[in-house]
Amino acid sequence: MSVAGKRILLIISGGIAAYKSLDLIRRLRERGAAVRPVMTAGAQQFVTPLAVGALAADRVYTDVFSREDEQDVGHIRLARECDLVIVAPATADLMAKMANGLADDLASTILLATDRPVLVAPAMNPKMWAHPATRRNVETLRADHIRFIGPNSGEMAESGEAGAGRMAEPLEIVARAETLLDDQPKPLAGRKAIVTSGPTHEPIDPVRYIANRSSGRQGHAIAAALAKLGADVALVTGPVTIPDPEGVTVVRVERAEEMLNAVLAELPADIAVMVAAVADWRVASEASEKVKKQADGVPPALQLAENPDILKTIGHHALRPKLVIGFAAETQNVEENGRAKLQRKGADFIVANDVSPATGIMGGPRNSVRIISAGGTEQWPELAKEEVAERLAALIAERTTEPAARKPR
Ligand code: CTP
Repeated sequence: MSVAGKRILLIISGGIAAYKSLDLIRRLRERGAAVRPVMTAGAQQFVTPLAVGALAADRVYTDVFSREDEQDVGHIRLARECDLVIVAPATADLMAKMANGLADDLASTILLATDRPVLVAPAMNPKMWAHPATRRNVETLRADHIRFIGPNSGEMAESGEAGAGRMAEPLEIVARAETLLDDQPKPLAGRKAIVTSGPTHEPIDPVRYIANRSSGRQGHAIAAALAKLGADVALVTGPVTIPDPEGVTVVRVERAEEMLNAVLAELPADIAVMVAAVADWRVASEASEKVKKQADGVPPALQLAENPDILKTIGHHALRPKLVIGFAAETQNVEENGRAKLQRKGADFIVANDVSPATGIMGGPRNSVRIISAGGTEQWPELAKEEVAERLAALIAERTTEPAARKPR
């Protein structure tokens, strides 16, 4: 999936975030996209057409009434001769024009004339973004199939105010453009997948819980990779701090029991990939009030109860998905333990990895896994978790779509 060979019309409107658009142009071009820039009058107050044009290696279009601009290509051709229109930054003013169909300059005229997908990266003061007028406009634009990325939360460049309003980072915009322009084959189209991810939190009392080091990175990456291949993905995730992946339905849960119920509610499905580091135990009787220290200094004893095994439940369910995949986080005897889990949990594959502290795998960006199935074991090299996810999604697509074995006559 890439923007290589694609033509992107980049509309820059007037905001301080326009400086980030220079980097956006660079990032798009280094990935092989052609960028044709359009600037509003406001944008030219923040960055110069000279800088924009130099980075884009194209002329900069600014004026709907310019004989030169019109004779050269004309606003209708500008609006149509591209694969994607990106508006970055998009000011509250330009979004208001778009929502109301106004066309009083080149940028707004192109946006009214285009029949191409439009991706908008808003950037404005948090109060302007939160204003009911902007909220209405965003809703209208969404209904008009305009795509949004951001704004992100953080400190504003000009006022130091905090809140949602910062333009999405150039690389985030590139990633979304790649998804929108994706014309890869979709071998998993029409297939439903359930993915669990992250840790679970098992409460001790209203302020404390038992958790583990899972970041959710591997599970989220698998959900994203399956979605890229066209699957309809429900991602059931425990508490994580990483962003939601593109194009999947996210169901948020805390404890193992909630995760099991959320997974069961998604059945029937074709594929289940259980990546979550589900807590094996919960506190048998959760205290309804905060547990206090005892005067005699005796620490409280926690009585634990076993949690339901989600993978095992799904692996033996009457509505068992055609393909059930589990993970095995091991610190020793990876192969034997993984193979035992394959049997016990009723899985088709176990993705086993060594999470002993020396590997630095748990919660980290890379993973070294072996794929254990009834047919044998395949060791994969150490890869980024996204690469593991892509390989696994390809394997799933192969298994899900392979023709049924021909019956002997
Ligand atoms: N799993 C699950 N529900 C649980 C425990 C684990 O669905 N209550 C799933 C995990 O998502 C993973 C697989 O089972 O896909 C193996 O998890 P792991 O923690 O390695 O195995 P356990 O069954 O907990 O075995 P042990 O802790 O004894 O190694």
